[in-house]
Amino acid sequence: MPSPAEKPIANPDTNPIEPLHELSGKTAMIVGASRGIGRGIALAFAGAGARVIAVSRSSTEFAEAGANTGEIRQEIADAGDAGLPALLLDRHDPDVVVLVAGAIPPMLPLQQQSWEAFSANWQADVRIAFHWLREILLKPLRPGSRVVVFSSGAALGGSPLSGGYAGAKAMQRFLAAYAQNEAVRGGLDITFTAVLPRFSPQTGVGKVAVQAYAARAGQSVEAFLQSFVQSSGPLLSPQIAGAALLQLATLDAADFAPAYLLTGAGLQKLPN
Ligand SMILES: NC(=O)c1ccc[n+]([C@@H]2O[C@H](COP(=O)([O-])OP(=O)(O)OC[C@H]3O[C@@H](n4cnc5c(N)ncnc54)[C@H](OP(=O)(O)O)[C@@H]3O)[C@@H](O)[C@H]2O)c1
Repeated sequence: MPSPAEKPIANPDTNPIEPLHELSGKTAMIVGASRGIGRGIALAFAGAGARVIAVSRSSTEFAEAGANTGEIRQEIADAGDAGLPALLLDRHDPDVVVLVAGAIPPMLPLQQQSWEAFSANWQADVRIAFHWLREILLKPLRPGSRVVVFSSGAALGGSPLSGGYAGAKAMQRFLAAYAQNEAVRGGLDITFTAVLPRFSPQTGVGKVAVQAYAARAGQSVEAFLQSFVQSSGPLLSPQIAGAALLQLATLDAADFAPAYLLTGAGLQKLPN
């Protein structure tokens, strides 16, 4: 795994982000917001005063969003539908788009995968990134807007128990870079970046991965996570992801890196 280029820029445990309402008047569209990391991001943006459009196939309660926050409006739809990005981008004209949605990969060794299981994240995660990034460029999104694509730390070193997952997440990182290149070529002032999270064991994708790798190591989930923390530092949570994404949303475009590793210690720029 390449070593991180820079020190973390967000750690809400040591440097909590106050509810500054610095995103008042801004619209953030979080694609994949009904649970897990995306839900944490939707709550963080609402806490910063943004109007949040939460996209997912199933609805949820956002009861934790206090009274003193921005509005969270749900759009219930399949983000992989080719026509959805044009519809929702026209309807809401967002300043920030975060593409978090993805499938939970079938966790099996290679020889036990079917092609359908192996390609699940290509049919979901890559498909979603392709349709949304394409439409963001074609529309185009307004100048100054920010787009974040959720890839995975697995894209750096592989994930042998999750079939085509690591390759699909690497493709998402490439897609963010391709979109940035097209935006520059077209004179569009839109910033694209990829975020590569490490294990977030409380959420859908992280939970099954931790269970599978703990079983393969012959360890309990608790022992596996303990040794992960000892070797790699604090675990990621939806709250930490939300705080990190807020930091990206308010960063100067000139300071953006093409990709970031995201751990429990916050964001770290990755080398190109
Ligand atoms: N958790 C980790 O450890 C980890 C590590 C590295 C990378 N990641 C990446 O981070 C992202 C979030 O992971 P997570 O663990 O938070 O996942 P999760 O708990 O399973 O949540 C996934 C979210 O995406 C939505 N979604 C999935 N397919 C969708 C579709 N076709 N259309 C609309 N919404 C859809 C789900 O809502 P509905 O089912 O209601 O549609 C849900 O809100 C994923 O891209 C994952 O690959 C996670």
